[in-house]
Amino acid sequence: MAAEDFDWEALTAAAAEASRHAYAPYSHFAVGAAATADDGRVLTGCNVENAAYGVGLCAECGLVSQLHLTGGGKLTHFVCVNGEGEVIMPCGRCRQLLHENGGPGLLLLTVSGVKRMDEVLPDAFGPDDLD
Ligand code: THU
Repeated sequence: MAAEDFDWEALTAAAAEASRHAYAPYSHFAVGAAATADDGRVLTGCNVENAAYGVGLCAECGLVSQLHLTGGGKLTHFVCVNGEGEVIMPCGRCRQLLHENGGPGLLLLTVSGVKRMDEVLPDAFGPDDLD
């Protein structure tokens, strides 16, 4: 499907809904993420922080876990938002997670429009490097 035909508004609304479940008592920065899989499934996730700050989970971690839990496949479209429902960029670590599970052609709604994964994580290290 062409990027312009995709319902980014609905996916962003799913991310905003997910952000309302965030557990972020330390940063007070809620994040919600939403993606579609290649079979049309919608996956979501929220950040879950921890008193041991460094082991907190980004919203993308829950989303990727849900992808595998509910049948696997590949991510095709992705967006994440803050607690105000504003689009934010996935952190560097999560770009790596998204690359693994969506490949270089994954489309992301970003702060500067729709971009491919290989634009937000160029020359990525990935599964092919282990061949
Ligand atoms: N966070 C995410 O959940 N995903 C991102 O891509 C960016 C950062 C979370 C981690 C932490 O709980 C909070 O946002 C502040 O960094």
